[in-house]
Amino acid sequence: MTLSIAVTSGKGGVGKTNTAVNLAISLGQTGKKVLLFDADFGLANVHVLLGTKPAKSVADFLDKKCSMEESITTFNDNIKIISGGSGLTELLNLDNHRRHQILSGISHLDQNIDYLIVDCPAGAADSTLFFASASDLVVVVLVEEPTSFLDAYALIKAANMETAVKNFAVVVNMADNKSVAKSSFEKFREIAMRFLDVNLHYAGMIPHSKEIKHAVARRRPVTIDKPHALVSASFGEVAKALLKTPTAKIEGLKFFDNAGGK
Ligand SMILES: Nc1ncnc2c1ncn2[C@@H]1O[C@H](COP(=O)(O)OP(=O)(O)O)[C@@H](O)[C@H]1O
Ligand SMILES: [Mg+2]
Repeated sequence: MTLSIAVTSGKGGVGKTNTAVNLAISLGQTGKKVLLFDADFGLANVHVLLGTKPAKSVADFLDKKCSMEESITTFNDNIKIISGGSGLTELLNLDNHRRHQILSGISHLDQNIDYLIVDCPAGAADSTLFFASASDLVVVVLVEEPTSFLDAYALIKAANMETAVKNFAVVVNMADNKSVAKSSFEKFREIAMRFLDVNLHYAGMIPHSKEIKHAVARRRPVTIDKPHALVSASFGEVAKALLKTPTAKIEGLKFFDNAGGK
C-alpha cells in the first residue's frame, strides 16, 4: 500500500518545498521507502534542496525520451525523486492529458513505495487541484500572515468546490512557538469551517529556524544536516501527525488504488 501526500500552499515562499523535502527525509529515516515527486513543473527545486543533479526529469518522460521509471533519481537508500524540470516554460501550462499521463506513469511504477510526496505548485493552479485530488492526504502549509491565510483559504475553497477534497492537514511554518502556531491554526479553522464544508486537521508546526536557512544555502535538507536539531524533530512530529490524519474517501482518479492492496 502506498500513501500519497500532496503538499500545497496558498502562496509561494511559505516553505512548501522545504516541508515536502524534510517530511520525505523524516519518513525515510523511519526505514520507509519514499518517492518525492516535484510537481512544481518548470520551477522545480526539490533537487536543489537535496543537492542532487537529476539526469532526467518529468519533461523527458513527457517528451517520450524515457519511461517514468527511468526519470527517477535515487537520493539515498530510502528516498527517490522525480524532478519537475526547470527553466522549461512549456512545463508551466500542462494540459489535462499530460497530467493524466504523469499520474498513470507514477501509478504504474514497478517500485516499492510506502509514501509518495508531491510538491505542488503554489495556489489553486490546475496541476495542484489535479494532483491534490489524486492524493490520499492534502497538506496545506501556511505562515502566520494575513496574506498566507487568505491564499490558503482560497486554495482550500477551490480544491473543495472543484474537486470535492474535504479533508486537509494544516502545517504552520516559520512559527514563533507551539502555542501561537496552534492558536493561529484554530483561528484559521474557525473561519474556513464557518464558510466551507471542509475538515481541517492540525498537523503541527515548524519553528522559524536559522538552521533551515543555513541548510538551504548548503543544499542539504536540515533533517540530514542537523538530524538532532529541534527543527528536525518538528518535521518528525508533523510526519507522525500526518499519518494519523483521516485520509480522503472521495471517489475519483487516485495515484494508487489502496483499496486494491497495491
Ligand atoms: N521554518 C523556516 N524557518 C526559516 N526559514 C524558512 C523556513 N521554511 C522555509 N524557510 C525559507 O523560506 C524560503 C522559501 O522556502 P521554500 O520551501 O522554497 O518555499 P515554497 O516552496 O513555499 O516557495 C527558503 O529559502 C527557506 O530558506
Ligand atoms: Mg517550492
